[in-house]
Amino acid sequence: MQIFKTIAEMQTWCREQKRQGQTIGLVPTMGYLHAGHLALARAARSQCDTVVVSIFVNPIQFGVGEDFEDYPRDLEKDSQLLADAGVDALFAPSIREMYPPGYNSYVEVTGEITGKLCGRSRPGHFRGVTTVVSKLFNICLPDLAFFGQKDAQQVMIIEKMAKELNFPLQIVRVPIVREADGLAMSSRNVYLNPEQRKQALVLSQSLQQAQELIRAGERDAGKVKQLMCTTINSSPEANIDYAEIYDADDLADVDEIQGRVLLALAVRIGTTRLIDNLIVEVQ
Ligand code: PAJ
Repeated sequence: MQIFKTIAEMQTWCREQKRQGQTIGLVPTMGYLHAGHLALARAARSQCDTVVVSIFVNPIQFGVGEDFEDYPRDLEKDSQLLADAGVDALFAPSIREMYPPGYNSYVEVTGEITGKLCGRSRPGHFRGVTTVVSKLFNICLPDLAFFGQKDAQQVMIIEKMAKELNFPLQIVRVPIVREADGLAMSSRNVYLNPEQRKQALVLSQSLQQAQELIRAGERDAGKVKQLMCTTINSSPEANIDYAEIYDADDLADVDEIQGRVLLALAVRIGTTRLIDNLIVEVQ
């Protein structure tokens, strides 16, 4: 596996791959890789000739007081995992390489899709995400770019951006990879102590219970949200940031559940903020 640290080298290499007629699959990550990230790399491996994974803890998507400095990093271990997964190239630029002094260009998706859920709790977060992802698209020239359904709002926003800004590529969604007990895999799970790790199960459990309630016929979104909150609040260290139900295609408000709805959670377990979601479809 080749490792590139500069934009110029990465872009030149990707241009050469394309010149040779290879399709490029890009998997953007912030590293500290787990089975969720590797599922994206595997999907890219199976659908593209050349696979590029980026690892960059993007400072501009973290708010003041968030965990940018503490975010876990292990480039050596990550490189090994990616090489083992058959990835062709790793792009791991420095902050200075991506945002040199005097940097002033940003990409922003506005409207309902960014004004809710994590967009509301973390102002500026998605502007940081869409900016870095646009840069990565221009540097790595992917035909396909892979994103996890774990970050449901993120992938919706990136799809909208790619469509509206005419990026010549396709976004591929990959399902959520979970631990055996249901906890959605996340680089942030390392922050949890053993007791918090147990309590973190309330996220996936409350989504499952909500799904069962909907399948049993409940159509009042308010009642389903109430059930999710009651389950989460049964865990003493859990603090709900949001527990919402929106239309799964455009995040429009939902009062009566119909079609495809997104059940979305952000919960603090101690000081660790975790997210999870589930799409439920009703006839
Ligand atoms: P990061 O949190 O490292 O996630 C990288 C990609 O892996 C994202 O597309 C995310 O949705 C996916 N992912 C994470 N956990 C997953 C899981 N349990 N199952 C399936 N996919 C999972 O998301 C980011 O980084 C950043 O915002 C980024 C897009 C790289 C921009 O900086």
